[in-house]
Amino acid sequence: MISHPAFAVEPWCLRETHLHLEVLAQSESVFALSNGHIGWRGNLDEGEPHGLPGSYLNGVYERHPLPYPEIGYGNPETGQTILNITNGKVIRLLVDDTPFDLRYGRLHSHERVLDLRSGLLHRDCLWTAPTGRTVRVRSTRLVSLTQRAIAAVAFEVEPVDEPVRVVLQSELLANEQLPKEPRDPRVSTVLETALRPEEHAAMGSRLRLIHRTAHSGLRVAAAADHHVTGSEGIDTLSESFPDMGRFAVTAPLAPGQRLRLEKLVSYGWSQSRSLPAMRDQVDAALTGARSTGWQGLLDEQHAYLDAFWAGADVEIDGDPEIQQAVRFALFHVLQAGARAEGRAIPAKGLTGSGYDGHCFWDTETFVLPVLTCTAPKAVAEALRWRHSTLPEARKRARQLGLRGAAFPWRTIAGLECSGYWPAGTAAFHINADIADAVLRYLCFTGDRDFEADTAVELLVETARLWCSLGYHDSQGRFHIDGVTGPDEYSAVANDNLYTNLMAQANLKAAADLAQRHPAQATALRVEEEEIASWRDAAASMTIPYNDELGIHEQSAGFTRHEVWDFAHTRADQYPLLLHFPYFDLYRKQVVKQADLILAMVMRGDAFAAEDKTRGFAYYEPLTVRDSSLSACFQAVIAAEVGHTRLAYDYLGEAALMDLEDLQHNTRNGLHIASLAGTWLALVGGFGGLRHFEDTIRFTPRLPENLTRIRFIVNIQQRHLQVEITRTTVTYTLLGGDPYTIVHLDEHITLTSGAPEPRPLPPLPRVGPEPSQPPSRRPRPRRPGRPPT
Ligand code: BGC
Repeated sequence: MISHPAFAVEPWCLRETHLHLEVLAQSESVFALSNGHIGWRGNLDEGEPHGLPGSYLNGVYERHPLPYPEIGYGNPETGQTILNITNGKVIRLLVDDTPFDLRYGRLHSHERVLDLRSGLLHRDCLWTAPTGRTVRVRSTRLVSLTQRAIAAVAFEVEPVDEPVRVVLQSELLANEQLPKEPRDPRVSTVLETALRPEEHAAMGSRLRLIHRTAHSGLRVAAAADHHVTGSEGIDTLSESFPDMGRFAVTAPLAPGQRLRLEKLVSYGWSQSRSLPAMRDQVDAALTGARSTGWQGLLDEQHAYLDAFWAGADVEIDGDPEIQQAVRFALFHVLQAGARAEGRAIPAKGLTGSGYDGHCFWDTETFVLPVLTCTAPKAVAEALRWRHSTLPEARKRARQLGLRGAAFPWRTIAGLECSGYWPAGTAAFHINADIADAVLRYLCFTGDRDFEADTAVELLVETARLWCSLGYHDSQGRFHIDGVTGPDEYSAVANDNLYTNLMAQANLKAAADLAQRHPAQATALRVEEEEIASWRDAAASMTIPYNDELGIHEQSAGFTRHEVWDFAHTRADQYPLLLHFPYFDLYRKQVVKQADLILAMVMRGDAFAAEDKTRGFAYYEPLTVRDSSLSACFQAVIAAEVGHTRLAYDYLGEAALMDLEDLQHNTRNGLHIASLAGTWLALVGGFGGLRHFEDTIRFTPRLPENLTRIRFIVNIQQRHLQVEITRTTVTYTLLGGDPYTIVHLDEHITLTSGAPEPRPLPPLPRVGPEPSQPPSRRPRPRRPGRPPT
């Protein structure tokens, strides 16, 4: 995208200077607005042309059968798919007799700007209708971060040279026609017209539509209110139909005269609330927003984002594209989780329907580490959502013959929805990833209430899972067999090192927490003996290591397998899963995405420095990065072991995944985990931020192309600023009580406002940069275009 000449490089916004219909769908994803509860893709106000129309409400999905060619016990039978709900964005415009449709007439200029500081999407265009009348159209859109149920648009039209009569039609539109997707027809049938009308109303400037989903039984309400200014002789009309509410405004306009329509939209959904209650809920939200007013909503949005950036911004000197990309990434990661409140954070956020709107481990392993340091309240909410799905996870564990809780690999509401068990149910590591996110949150916030009311139960139930999934061999060693680690090209493996190390931390922390919270432990029927069994399993966890090669095994016996024939794999045969059978991938040494490398980040304490260097050198030439979840952690380890140039290249890949549409699927929604990975590569990679147990450590580096990185992290209600220059790293506590961090091996107690500079440590001495499989080298990153 930004490599596209229509996109400019600027530090605080994403600007598209011309409309290019061939990247319309991608632009709808990058210009999506969301607060984690409501998601509006960046569709044009007038609705068409569109790539993929999208309006989403977090948690609104439809249930459908998961068809299998063969029956297998425990296969999930019901899928959940995010629904495109009532579209409240649409404002159509008629200029004299002609619809405002950019495919016709003449477009003189068209600009869209996503402003990352104000949280607004602006549009400004000048268009001549086929009839020869020219109008300027401007709009500003927001999805409120402060009023969770509210989104809003201000739309203006102004004739340029001749008087015109305009008609604006502001709509609520349900069951929109969507582009056909390649799907099983049994699933498509359920998803088409998934919203069944229950009520529609139009009263003056207000509209309301209430629908119910046919199978999941969710009630979805949308309402809109309007305020028109700018012309004499305005005529309005409102009407409603089962799937449409429409407020129309007609006005004659002289050149230079502006007709302005402010539209407030409120949304709500519920599984249990009655029709009258939902009606009142959306009406009340509108009334609240109306009393705040348009300007009030803008001010609130700005204030919310000012507070966010004060505790989250990253400044980069030396690479304007990365500067833009990291703020763009932080903005979208925030949007994905800010007000999700008790719901999942999906892999695409609410920016598209990709992956059916499912949430994966992407949330706990990629998104939550960023939010923990930048918007910790959102993390508590996301983990409380996981906690709320414990009944379903316990049920799944029982079904699988296991104890504790087995969280789903992919889901919207808690039910396992993965139809392919080797890369679904077998990816048990998600349970330890959840535990890890809980522990990170506790370390960075010290939130003792959360520890008692949420953390203990999550840790205990996941520890139980590991104990029942694994076993002690005759020598007492604990094994976890038949699981899939992060690398989905090595399914159903024994003793996947990542899984074992993460489970080990999970088991140990569960034991500690259960002993610290005896009342909660008793309520969960945890006994001393069980705690001892967790400690024992953790202490005797198998760590597969190849002594001959002097490296860790990704899983038992991994290095014994034949190496994938990279020399005869063409560049156009990636991603491999689309060109080679899984059975062949599974029995060869080829790594889809960071697995052992990820273990080195998450459990860095379990590896000696030389093991990391050797492990990185061994696994790099095998790692093909067929997932967007890989580059960022490769960046982190590359930086740690001293290959800063390679780390910088990987940073570029993670950062530009969507802005340059590197995987050619940004049209279906943003890769929220890779966006989060931009921050991880910068802060975890070059900042060297790690947390082991309760200690927060930094091992800073600076790649040759950057002259300065400055970032801020939230630690226990304080903001800590870290500034890395070519010679120095400076730690500054920006307020609050003193706090002790570890720089390399030195403990430094920081006091508010007293910067602590240290010389930038020299890079470790490393051998030659490891290679990647042919054609899989990350693009060498050169600082890009100058800021515009
Ligand atoms: C990756 C998974 C990831 C999923 C959703 C897959 O391609 O291999 O690790 O969770 O995409 O992003």
